[in-house]
Amino acid sequence: MVARIPLIAGNWKMNKTPAEGDAFVRALATRLGTIEAVEVVVAPPFTGLQAVVSASLGTGITVAAQNLFWEERGAFTGEVAPGMLTSLGVRWVIIGHSERRQLFGETDQIVARKVRSALNHDLRPIMCVGETQEERDAGMTEERLVSQVTKGLAHVTAGEAGELVVAYEPIWAIGTGRTATPAAAQEACALVRRQVAQVLGPAARETVRVLYGGSVTPDNIGDLMRQDDVDGALVGGASLDVESFAVIAERA
Ligand code: 13P
Repeated sequence: MVARIPLIAGNWKMNKTPAEGDAFVRALATRLGTIEAVEVVVAPPFTGLQAVVSASLGTGITVAAQNLFWEERGAFTGEVAPGMLTSLGVRWVIIGHSERRQLFGETDQIVARKVRSALNHDLRPIMCVGETQEERDAGMTEERLVSQVTKGLAHVTAGEAGELVVAYEPIWAIGTGRTATPAAAQEACALVRRQVAQVLGPAARETVRVLYGGSVTPDNIGDLMRQDDVDGALVGGASLDVESFAVIAERA
């Protein structure tokens, strides 16, 4: 079995100025020292990427964007190309977060194109999937996750699974304080892993990293990480505070 390195990613969403991002990463790096057993990633808004990448150099912390567009350049007002991100030293990109799907109309087809584009540019995608409360109540969680994983990975090849991260984020758990139970997170993350292997081939089961996201805190990260199919976490609110994010990384 391949040992998958745990990954803790902080999604800052629409928070923090460049100066705040710079200060955060310096403080986090000092607080964590050298941690090698866990990969730590922060995802500032586009405007903070340059400052945060600069602050992260030599620290072991790496940086994600929260979105990208798949074209390389051109008349796409308001969009940011993958090469623009890599030229800043960005290494990861969150794709298809539920807020982008729900508020900005991103479809599985859009997600698939963005995932392909990221991989073409050596940006590692963190593709988000997850069901709504209504879907869960209707017993449609499995169907929803299978569909999102299958469609989102439509243009990914078998050999790329090691570059891929899929974050299971049940929408009812995001920003609500209602974390999935460790058993529910395990069940869904196992399902996601199985479906990735279904799409990309059996070897992907060992190499793809599957994260849980949704009201992760220093208090629940330990139980979540003890689940076999949870390789890390995508953290929203608790990633905005140095101390709570540092404790989450340490406990992972
Ligand atoms: P919270 O941790 O604030 O629930 O947000 C989760 C999330 O959406 C991370 O991408």
